[in-house]
Amino acid sequence: MSTHFYEPRNGHGLPHDPFNAIVGPRPIGWISSLSLDGVPNLAPYSFFNAFNYVPPIVGFASIGEKDTLRNVRDTGEFVWNLATRPLAEAMNLSCTAAAPEVDEFALAGLNAAPSRLVSVPRVAESPVSFECRVTQIIQLQGAGGEAVPTWLTLGEVVGVHIDEALLKDGVYDTAGAGHILRGGGPADYFSIGPEQLFRMFRPR
Ligand SMILES: Cc1cc2nc3c(=O)[nH]c(=O)nc-3n(C[C@H](O)[C@H](O)[C@H](O)COP(=O)(O)O)c2cc1C
Repeated sequence: MSTHFYEPRNGHGLPHDPFNAIVGPRPIGWISSLSLDGVPNLAPYSFFNAFNYVPPIVGFASIGEKDTLRNVRDTGEFVWNLATRPLAEAMNLSCTAAAPEVDEFALAGLNAAPSRLVSVPRVAESPVSFECRVTQIIQLQGAGGEAVPTWLTLGEVVGVHIDEALLKDGVYDTAGAGHILRGGGPADYFSIGPEQLFRMFRPR
């Protein structure tokens, strides 16, 4: 096999950076937060994942200082909302670089529903939301120990809302929920349906 090798610090030598196309498709951290002034904020973060089961912990990385990062630092709370195919265009609109006083729920044509345990509203149209309390905000470092202007926010999921229609005999129906995932390049997304499902049990 002949491979294309590159050292990222010297550039990739390709028309598009393949990194996020390779580490993909990624779930989308569609994060709502609230400013100290009470302005709701909503933005997608695809450098997002789950990191622990008990207690459940999710995290997302802000590349640069953004409104969401400021809000989670100030309030210690955020909500993760599931992005689905019918919500894709609204999710995309919510990434608009808007001034901090702009309510991105309104900008994206979405409604805010109250959360139960945190002050931050959730996306009413989203079938699943996690109410989260910030546990750590970590500034990333390069291999040489140099600070990178990226901050990883981790939060414990303290409350979970699931549309009951997605519980089939009590089992969460990932394929039926229509999750969307971010691929690489400027515009690639993937959606999940039953055709992507296969099952494989761990060896005993
Ligand atoms: C699908 C998608 C994924 C994104 N992922 C990230 C990410 O992981 N980190 C990041 O800093 N910005 C990401 N962005 C860009 C932010 O959403 C954008 O900068 C947004 O304006 C930030 O909003 P805020 O300032 O209200 O927090 C992404 C945008 C889209 C559309």
